[in-house]
Amino acid sequence: MNNRRTLLKRILAAVAALLMPGRLSASDILAPTPFLTAGPFYPRDPSGLPFLPARATLPEPVTNDLTRNRRGEPAQGRHIMVSGRVMDITGRPLAGAVVEIWSVNARNIYLVEDGGASDPGFAGFGVTATDAEGRYSFRTIRPGGYDRYFGLIRRTAHIHVLVKLAGGEAFTTEMWFADEPRNRIDSFFRRVADPGLQARMAVILNRSDGLDQAQFDLVLAPRYAGRVG
Ligand SMILES: [Fe+2]
Repeated sequence: MNNRRTLLKRILAAVAALLMPGRLSASDILAPTPFLTAGPFYPRDPSGLPFLPARATLPEPVTNDLTRNRRGEPAQGRHIMVSGRVMDITGRPLAGAVVEIWSVNARNIYLVEDGGASDPGFAGFGVTATDAEGRYSFRTIRPGGYDRYFGLIRRTAHIHVLVKLAGGEAFTTEMWFADEPRNRIDSFFRRVADPGLQARMAVILNRSDGLDQAQFDLVLAPRYAGRVG
């Protein structure tokens, strides 16, 4: 019943948004997922860090399965499924969004740091697009946290996510894991103080179909949500 009521509320909010775009009440608006920088290890445009030369080596072809290479060799580490919906602040699904993810491999190395040499089975970078309901999915690994600069940069486990819609600015954020002990030492995680947003961004893995599954939904603020209509 609760689900039906929630669904009805969402539909009403979406209809209201279409009919009266300027007259939504605050309670109909979803909190946008916070923007977090892409960082220096984005494979399409790596800026690198001093002492860590960036190599622009993309896996070919780039798909939504990061857990095996062209020769069928599997990625090291724990394989997981990440899926979710991309929507605007009224809950309206955003179809046709390009979604990209990248993370360290099971040895805590980014693709752009060693060109994939430390785990040739892990693609390190994936891309897909949302369907008509705004849904996307990836098969990847559960990455660990990492330290850089002799411990000056200390990060919790995270998967970088980029979403790009026609007519909107590129949006980047991160997916975290609720049971990761390093969350409490991570300045990015701690900066997202709102418990609701933290719960949306830090996923709980559920075992299903022999694989750990994560649901990661993204709510895009208008500047990222692209053309309306
Ligand atoms: Fe990172």
